[in-house]
Amino acid sequence: MKNIVILISGGGSNMAAIVKAAQNEAWASRYGAQIAAVISNKADAEGLAYARTQGIATAVVDHKQFAQAEDPRAAFDAELAKVIDKFEPHLVVLAGFMRILTEGFVLRYAGRLINIHPSLLPAFAGLRTHQRAIEAGCKVAGATVHRVTPELDHGPILGQVTVPVLPGDTPASLSARVLSQEHLLYPRVVAELLRAGI
Ligand code: GRF
Repeated sequence: MKNIVILISGGGSNMAAIVKAAQNEAWASRYGAQIAAVISNKADAEGLAYARTQGIATAVVDHKQFAQAEDPRAAFDAELAKVIDKFEPHLVVLAGFMRILTEGFVLRYAGRLINIHPSLLPAFAGLRTHQRAIEAGCKVAGATVHRVTPELDHGPILGQVTVPVLPGDTPASLSARVLSQEHLLYPRVVAELLRAGI
């Protein structure tokens, strides 16, 4: 079985969309793949409860517990990798995982680490993407699924979706429009990767 491990920090709606697609499209029999675990850096991430209701293993690695380490980022990433590796992942899916990852972590999962970013990369890497798209006067916005490389929000693009930016849009209204499309894009890209035999 190809194990998929999903990392979240909050609501986990993209994670839930992937879990639902895996169930509805029978990824286990079709691709020999399963969502093996959902891991969060926040114990109160709402998505963890959903994952548990679906019988999926969950784990928390709290980044704050590494604040005193000599290199907090490296210490957190090392512990996170230890927990991830227990599930022998074929694919590690970042879904609203709000951590900048060290190069060591990214290279450890080279070729099997993907992320979703709520902008049409390479435009608007980083934070506050919807506000920046509105301020720039963009007529379209969207989301990108990409391979993760050491440079933040810059890996090879695997899939994109566009939505219109409408007059009067706020970051919240645009974010909701983009997010509803993310929920279609992300499971589709994961399924494509599984089909391609990654
Ligand atoms: C999404 O917009 C995703 O693109 C971004 O963070 C948000 C996470 O939402 N990286 P959710 O936790 O999947 O609901």
